[in-house]
Amino acid sequence: MCYCRISTHILQFFITMSLAFCKGDTIICNGDVNSRLRLFQNISDYHFTTIGFNPMRKNFRGNYVGFKSGNMEILERNFFATFDSQNILKMYLHHQNIKKIDPGAFLFMDCLKTLDLHANEIESLSDEIFLNLDRIEELDLSDNKLQEILPLTFNHTRTLKSLNLSNNKLERLSINSFFQLRHLEKLNLSYNALTNISDTTFDHLICLKILLLNGNKLMKINPEKWYNLFHLKVLDLSKNFLSNFDTGYKFSFGMTLSCLNLTDNRLTQLNIFGLLKNIPNVSVLGIQQNRWLCSDLELMLNILRGSNISYVGTSKKGAQIDGISCYNRAEEIFSPDKHAISEIKRNADYHFNGLTHQAQIMMIVIMCLLVIVVVILLLEVLLRFNLRDVLGIRGNRSGLDNYSNVEQIALITR
Ligand SMILES: *[C@@H]1O[C@H](CO)[C@@H](O)[C@H](O)[C@H]1NC(C)=O
Ligand SMILES: *[C@@H]1O[C@H](CO)[C@@H](O)[C@H](O)[C@H]1NC(C)=O
Ligand SMILES: *[C@@H]1O[C@H](CO)[C@@H](O)[C@H](O)[C@H]1NC(C)=O
Ligand SMILES: *[C@@H]1O[C@H](CO)[C@@H](O)[C@H](O)[C@H]1NC(C)=O
Ligand SMILES: *[C@@H]1O[C@H](CO)[C@@H](O)[C@H](O)[C@H]1NC(C)=O
Ligand SMILES: *[C@@H]1O[C@H](CO)[C@@H](O)[C@H](O)[C@H]1NC(C)=O
Ligand SMILES: *[C@@H]1O[C@H](CO)[C@@H](O)[C@H](O)[C@H]1NC(C)=O
Ligand SMILES: *[C@@H]1O[C@H](CO)[C@@H](O)[C@H](O)[C@H]1NC(C)=O
Repeated sequence: MCYCRISTHILQFFITMSLAFCKGDTIICNGDVNSRLRLFQNISDYHFTTIGFNPMRKNFRGNYVGFKSGNMEILERNFFATFDSQNILKMYLHHQNIKKIDPGAFLFMDCLKTLDLHANEIESLSDEIFLNLDRIEELDLSDNKLQEILPLTFNHTRTLKSLNLSNNKLERLSINSFFQLRHLEKLNLSYNALTNISDTTFDHLICLKILLLNGNKLMKINPEKWYNLFHLKVLDLSKNFLSNFDTGYKFSFGMTLSCLNLTDNRLTQLNIFGLLKNIPNVSVLGIQQNRWLCSDLELMLNILRGSNISYVGTSKKGAQIDGISCYNRAEEIFSPDKHAISEIKRNADYHFNGLTHQAQIMMIVIMCLLVIVVVILLLEVLLRFNLRDVLGIRGNRSGLDNYSNVEQIALITR
């Protein structure tokens, strides 16, 4: 039996039970969505409003809350607590320059389903921050400065369905980073600095459908040991440093995965027969920008075409098949990366050009100095030998020192 189905039934039951409490839920499907967002100037504007968030009130204007971009910096305990804050369903706190969130910052927001904290300066999180968010479904922490997800960070947000941690500075995840997130369906970890993912990291995510790990620094992963991803449909591993993706195993997501993106890695081989056998539901496969040998690629693409698996190729120059670039000879693959070489060459050229440019300026300066020295010396000689009359230069000879003579002569000769 599928856990997800059972659990969603149970969840729905509880949600129905809790409707009486979460009044906002009763009207979530009615009315104009746009009319529900209330935009405040700043936090005092929010606290001093006399219009509540309870849909049952006559003057109800909405229970989605946003703020003009501002400078909240620290969210202290009870930061958003007002007599009516329990009725708020969505809170948009992006671009608020938030640096720190104290434990209990979101107390008295029992009905909150969406919390958007993207584009702030948050460096760390603890589970206490999310106290009381018992109905949260969507949490967006993308574009912050998180370096690490500590164990149990999300222990109080167990109802989460979507978690966005993209564009942070995550280098590692703890084994229990996603502890108890049994309802999570989307996990966006793209564009971080992950080098390593422990095999048990995703163990609790039994409902996960979309896992985005693109734009990290992963060199090796063991997806065959991600034992509980029975519902995974999309796995994006593009833009990493993977040199291997071994399809010769049984995978927990073997029956469900339909999109596998391996674009822009360092793969030289991919066992397509293993793929067809062990992940048979894949219909979209990203394989561009790897290190295929053209002959291998040709075989792979033939099999893919025969099995109705679509792939995209956009490369337009160099050796390629169907727009997927490849190497004609094995030596080229193992010699340092073509791109790397051209990059190095470009850098070198740039520096060399910079150097020659500087050298030219230096030369000109030195030449000028030399010319000046020569001219001064010449004048000195002329003066010494009293040849001014010979050259027909007039002036007060006695009252002038050498320097002003030189100057005067320079002026005249010019
Ligand atoms: C907050 O917004 C209100 C309403 O626009 C304004 O009167 C007040 O000066 C603002 N306070 C701060 C600290 O910016
Ligand atoms: C995790 O949260 C649950 C309740 O949500 C609590 O009972 C438990 O003590 C928490 N665990 C830790 C280690 O904080
Ligand atoms: C974060 O990811 C979620 C789901 O993956 C998406 O809905 C949301 O738009 C993303 N946030 C941003 C700022 O793009
Ligand atoms: C993942 O998050 C990023 C925001 O940083 C967003 O641009 C992207 O669309 C998200 N992906 C999905 C599939 O939601
Ligand atoms: C990756 O993580 C595993 C277990 O957490 C550890 O044993 C291994 O040394 C790590 N590898 C790298 C390259 O950090
Ligand atoms: C296989 O993938 C298709 C979409 O490509 C999806 O509709 C179908 O449910 C998947 N099969 C299973 C067993 O998940
Ligand atoms: C695979 O990843 C690449 C690079 O991140 C992206 O451009 C492409 O659209 C992705 N393909 C699919 C099918 O998701
Ligand atoms: C390939 O897909 C097309 C439609 O997308 C379908 O008509 C055809 O039967 C499929 N062929 C195989 C071999 O699955």
